[in-house]
Parts: sequence; structure tokens; C-alpha cells
Amino acid sequence: MAHQQDDNGAVDPATLRPGTLPPEQMDETAATAELAGLAASIAFHDLRYHGEDDPVISDADYDALVARNRALEAAFPALVREDSPSLRVGAPAAVGFGKVRHARPMLSLNNGFTDEDIEDFAARIRRFLSLGEDDELAFTAEPKIDGLSLSLRYEGGRLVQAATRGDGAEGEDVTANIRMVDAVPQSLAGSPPLVLEVRGELYMDKADFQALNASQEAGGAKIFANPRNAAAGSLRQKDPAVTASRRLQFFAYSLGEASAPLAETHMQSLGALGEMGFSINPMSDRRADIAGLLEHYLAIGAARPDLGYDIDGVVYKVDRHDYQERLGQVARAPRWALAHKFPAEQAETLLNAIDIQVGRTGALTPVARLQPVTVGGVVVSNATLHNEDEIRRKDIRVGDRVVIQRAGDVIPQVVRVITEARPADSAEFAFPDSCPECGAPAIRPEGEAVRRCTNSLECPAQRLEWLKHFVSRNAFDIEGLGARQIDQFVELGWIERPADIFRLGERRDALAELDGYGEVSISNLLAAIEARREIAFERMIFALGIRQVGQATARLLALHFDSPGAMMAALAPDADIEATIAELIAIDQVGDSMAADLVGFFANETNRSAVEDLLAQLSVIPPERPSEDSPVSGKTIVFTGTLSGMSRAEAKARAEGLGAKVSGSVSAKTDYLVAGADAGSKARKAAELGVTVLAEEEWLALISD
Ligand code: IVH
Repeated sequence: MAHQQDDNGAVDPATLRPGTLPPEQMDETAATAELAGLAASIAFHDLRYHGEDDPVISDADYDALVARNRALEAAFPALVREDSPSLRVGAPAAVGFGKVRHARPMLSLNNGFTDEDIEDFAARIRRFLSLGEDDELAFTAEPKIDGLSLSLRYEGGRLVQAATRGDGAEGEDVTANIRMVDAVPQSLAGSPPLVLEVRGELYMDKADFQALNASQEAGGAKIFANPRNAAAGSLRQKDPAVTASRRLQFFAYSLGEASAPLAETHMQSLGALGEMGFSINPMSDRRADIAGLLEHYLAIGAARPDLGYDIDGVVYKVDRHDYQERLGQVARAPRWALAHKFPAEQAETLLNAIDIQVGRTGALTPVARLQPVTVGGVVVSNATLHNEDEIRRKDIRVGDRVVIQRAGDVIPQVVRVITEARPADSAEFAFPDSCPECGAPAIRPEGEAVRRCTNSLECPAQRLEWLKHFVSRNAFDIEGLGARQIDQFVELGWIERPADIFRLGERRDALAELDGYGEVSISNLLAAIEARREIAFERMIFALGIRQVGQATARLLALHFDSPGAMMAALAPDADIEATIAELIAIDQVGDSMAADLVGFFANETNRSAVEDLLAQLSVIPPERPSEDSPVSGKTIVFTGTLSGMSRAEAKARAEGLGAKVSGSVSAKTDYLVAGADAGSKARKAAELGVTVLAEEEWLALISD
């Protein structure tokens, strides 16, 4: 099953009333149908209430729908839907909050799981900074709080703005609500810099979470799945008075923009923040080596069950700020920090069925449908089985009792089968060799783990998933056009490929015939679509859903090509593909197989024409360069030989940070070749091509202007 079953059939979500038949007198078919109607109806009312601020039923009627949903789910636990309102994570996308562009991006963290991961992390940093064995490299270790990150901006010592992380570049303005949170200082003690952005985690204590849920339940209101969702839900309230009534806590752990440095090290910065009035986690500590970090990790892990709040790992940070500065970031995470995650939590349950899902790239993914079970505070009813080898290796069969695990936000996994409990008549799972959705052969290329439907976008399931990806949050993110509407419009034959979305305006009258679409919602939808005709190049690339091209790669490609025209030309069927592949893999982080997927995507005629059709509808905004006015911005630079002052990786990161493109090979397009000691053939080639060759000192002089 690649998509949800028909969600609401003939029922109008706006007017649905809760059923009156006692659940114990119902059969599964009737319960399934009613649960589907309830899910659609509650989602509809949530949107009216939170998103549009325009509820169409009373709170009491809404509560009755939620209560009926809960009663049916309690009677039929196996029928709890994936999109059940009772499982919904956090609050819906808040439409009522203004956007805030972060002065400095809010980064996420790379994860490590084993001691070896931590050793590699430290070794990478030593290499990057060219540190010798004996040079000191101290880290801090602090608990990773399971909440939501906030950026608090203080000017003249007063809180002027609070924003959520959002996509890291742009978050939501939650200032009015944060003013209600006692744990966040409204003004700072001492003499803080004129501008100071403090970042940290907003969270809810476990005890306050329990108390909140108890009172929510008594009032028939929404139950939160875990303290993190409760904190997020409490923050994203239209009415700041509601936020005020919830007990929220805050730990400060890093800085954004600051008009003057607070200190030379992270540990000292934390101390300074403490003096200004912030709570600093008392288990934050500085360690001079990896052994010390691992020791502290164990100590924090041992304290975890007795802490009043949830943590899901330990964050290590390079202590010296000057090192942090030099290390910079890759994609969306700093090179100088790592989250060492705690091992996953496990539980035992029954495997009811194995479904095969067809993804947007045609991958056939087996999914375990489980008897719902609570793991680490969250109800789990599905788990990934990865691929056919995994099923065979673990000999997973329908009807087995299985151990499952979930860690943080990752999809739950089946760890192993409890073979002693296996029914006598169980049979090995037969993995299909044709696509369950379109019947085309499903092929598994030699050496690959994944079997794929060979029908590309001709396969309706692939096309549907592709379109859903296209409108998803980090892609086109069109308000009012989510997975549900894509299902509906594809079913109606109105959307076959992305460009059709931009032609929906021609179907105004037909839209008005659909249930749930009034004049206002149609106008809103069409306006939201219109607003997206202008789109950032990197978002557009990400939206294409090319295999292996995530947000970070999309940004790299956007920076590299600068315009869709250049990208299409380089990847055209008649282009010099060898040269394009060489050009692609010269981009930091792009490897052979990703380059091959990119070339493959654009070589397919269906894809190509879909992209051309789309581009005709859009006005694509070129990527913002990190630094437009640096002397090397937009220049192509090649490094060769050994540099004395910094590692090659650091030199490359510096150049890219200044807006330059760094390439691996010299060509006529190269602007500068920076030649360290023992530069060989590249220097000769540069001389032949007349490319400017800079010695290391000349390079440093150029960029320090
Ligand atoms: S440092 C550039 N420290 O974890 C540094 N993050 O998975 C960015 N988090 O978005 C974050 N506790 O919301 C840092 N002690 C801690 C943290 C922490 C929790 C969160 C934060 C971040 C997420 C990344």
C-alpha cells in the first residue's frame, strides 16, 4: 500500500458527527470506516482552528469527535490509523506566526553512536586543524535535551525577539508566547553585549507533562505523546495566555549573533550566560580527551533515568571558539560538534502483516504492520523492514512475535524475531518480483540491496509519491496543497506532473464542485500556488526528488549551476556527459553514484519534459552566495600541493565560505590555482592555460582583504 486508503469516501469532514453505536457492538469494517471519517474530520477542524483561525464547530462538538476517536481506537487497537489524530506529532504547521530570518543559521547536529564514531570525529577535527598529537584539543560534553530549539535575541540586554528553528534559516516568531515563559529571562543581568542571540532548548519536565496530560484528559482535550510534543504544542498557541498556563523550562547552550564575544571558550560562554540569568545544564563539563568524554557520556547515561526531563544523548563541542570558527560547518551541521546518541529503546509485539510500499524512486520497501505498542513514550504501529535481504537474514515472518526498537526520531525497526513463539504453520515471506502497484517487473540490479519498479514515472505509485515529495515542507511547501489533496487531484486526473499544479487555476469551477472547497479556500489555495511561482533554485532542485539529492546536495548544485538553464544544458542528452560527471564529482560531497543518479534522472525523457514543463511555469531565484562581495566570490579555485598554514579541507571550506567554487581539476574555467609546496602537474597545466597561479601567501593576502 503506497498511500492511505480512501480517507473519507462520501463523508463530508466539515459536517461529520460522531457515531452513536457503542464500539463493542461494532465490527471491524464499520469501525475502520468510522475511524477514517473521524481522522479526516478532525484534521479538517484542526486546520480551521489552528491554521485559518476560523473554526466551524464548537469546542464541545470537536471534543466529542476526539473522544469518539479515542473510544473506537481503545476497542480496536489494531485499527489505529497511521494518520490518527491521537498519534499526531505536535501541533499542525502554525500559519498564524510571522517568519523570522535568523541572523546566523540555526544548525542541527551530526550523530555518532559508537566509541569509534567519537574517535573518528576527534581525528577528523585534528586533521582539519592540522593539530599534532601533542596539541591540546579539549571538548565540552553536555546532555542533549529532547525539546525544541529557540533563538532569543537581546538588544541592550532586553529580549526583543524569540524564534523557533524552522528550517534553520528561517523560523517562526514566537516572541509574544515566550514573554510568558518564566524560565526565559526577559532582561539580562550584568553587562551583556549590545546584541546577543542566545540559543537553547525549550522543554517540559516529565512531571509537568504528566500533570498536563491528566488535566487535558479530564477536559477531553488533546493528549500529548511525549514531553517534547507537549512543549511544542504549548509554545505554538495562538493565545499567549495558554502558553503562560503551561510550565516550560529552558536551558541555554550556544550563541547566535553577538556584537562582542562573550568568552574564548564554550565553557566560559556557558558560565557567562549563567551569570546573565540563564539556566545552564549542571552536567555540562569540559574534558581534555576522548576518554574523558566517553566517561562523562556514561555518567550522564547513568543519571538519565533520574533526571526530571528527557534527554536523548550527549553533545560534544570543541571548547575553543577560535577552533569552532575555523572548523565552520558542512551542509547544516557544525564540524565542531557531535551528538552521541543513547542506544535505542526496545519493545516486543506481534507482526500482523508485511506490506510493500513503492517510493518515489521506485524502491520497493517492506513495512511491518504491528500490533500497536508503546516504545519510549510513543505508540508504534509500523516499522521499516528495509529490504528483502533484511527480511531473509532475520527470517521475519507474518505472525511472528518481534522485538522492535526506536531511537529519537528515526523510523522504528524490527530488531529480531522471538523464534520460540513462532506459530507452527508460519511460512517464509515471499518478496514480490513485480511492482504491487502497477505490475511492472521489479528488478534488483546486481550488487544493490533495493528492488525497484522499472516503470519510472509511468508507475502511478511512483508518480504519486513523487508529487507528494514535490509539495512537501522543504520543497514547494504550498499551503493547502498537501499529500491529501495530491491524492485527490491525481485521482481526478487533474495533476499528472508538477507543472499541472500551476494550471489548477484553470479548474476554479471544478474545484468549487468538490466537498470542502468554498470560495475562500479556493482563493487561498490558488493564491498560495501563485506565490510559489517564484522559487529558490535549491528548493526547486530538491523538489525534483532525484535519488540521493537531499536538501544539502540541492544547495550545492544550485550554487554550482546558478540557474536551471545551466543545469539543464550540462545534463542534456547531447551534452558531454563525461565532462559533466567530472564537473559534478569535483563538487565537495558529490560522489560517483550521486552524479550517476543525476545524469540518469535527466537522461529520462519523461523526467526531462516534466522539468521543462515546470520551468516554463516558474521564475527561479538564483541562490544566495555566502558572501557576494569577497574578492573570490564566484571565482573557481583549485588547490594543489601541500599548504603549510592549514589543511586542504580547511582551505577549501574557507574559500567556499567566501563564495568561491572549489574544483579538483584545472581547466580554462579556473580563475586561480593556489599552489602549495611540491605542486606538480596541475601547476604546469595552469601555466599552459594561462591561469593565474598564486603562492600560499598570495592567496592568504587576497582573502584577508
Ligand atoms: S548545540 C551548532 N547543544 O539538538 C550547535 N543542541 O539534533 C547546535 N539540542 O537543533 C546545537 N541539546 O535543538 C546543542 N546541549 C545541546 C543540545 C542541543 C539539545 C538540540 C538542538 C538541535 C538538535 C540537533
